[in-house]
Formats: sequence, structure tokens, C-alpha cells
Amino acid sequence: MTRPSSRTPTPSTSTATPGPHLAFGHGPHQCLGQNLARIELQVVFDTLFRRIPTIELAKPVSDLPFKDNVSVYGMYSLPVTW
Ligand code: HEM
Repeated sequence: MTRPSSRTPTPSTSTATPGPHLAFGHGPHQCLGQNLARIELQVVFDTLFRRIPTIELAKPVSDLPFKDNVSVYGMYSLPVTW
């Protein structure tokens, strides 16, 4: 597992160009709260990785349970350790 402090950039330090994902929907019903949500997530991840710099996944990504059979995709759990 890659630690956030080594290879994984936090959202505020990432130089990645946003891809054409659909996390906030698209068209007339595109998420009205997406700007607020992006700011909240930047604060959350900045704070989390600053306060717990040793945080890392407790299991390999291949062992994590994803919701492949429901309309809202996501993870059932994300066990971490530090
Ligand atoms: C990570 C956080 C969030 C995600 C992933 C998300 C995702 C989405 C998605 C995918 C839709 C489109 C649903 C559809 O096509 O029917 C949507 C709609 C909407 N979201 Fe969010 N959302 C987030 C946070 C928020 C927040 C913080 C607010 C308000 C403070 C918000 C308010 C809304 C509203 C009002 C709509 C309906 C827009 C419409 O139907 O015209 N969302 N959201």
C-alpha cells in the first residue's frame, strides 16, 4: 500500500487534470452542491493526511468490497490502519 505522504498526492497538491468522470452527474440535474463538496473533500483529506500521516489501507485494494450490484457505486468499507 502506498502511503499518502510518499506517492499518493492529496487533493490540494495534486496536479492531475480532472478526467471526464460522472461523480456529480451531468446535464440539467448535475449536482448543485459539487463546488461545496469539492471544497469539503479538500479540507477533509488535507486534515486527515496532515494529522495522521501514517494512515494507510489495512488490506490490498484487490481485497476491498465494492458495490458492483447497486445503482450508486462505492465501497462497503475502507479499513485503514496507522
Ligand atoms: C461528494 C459529494 C457529492 C456527490 C458525489 C454528489 C453527487 C450528485 C449526483 C451524481 C447528482 C445527480 C443525480 C441525478 O442525475 O439525478 C447530484 C445531484 C444533486 N446534488 Fe449532489 N453530490 C454531492 C454533494 C452534494 C452537496 C454537498 C449538495 C448540497 C449542499 C448537493 C446537492 C445536490 C442537488 C440539489 C442535486 C439535484 C440537482 C438537480 O436535480 O437539478 N450534492 N449530486
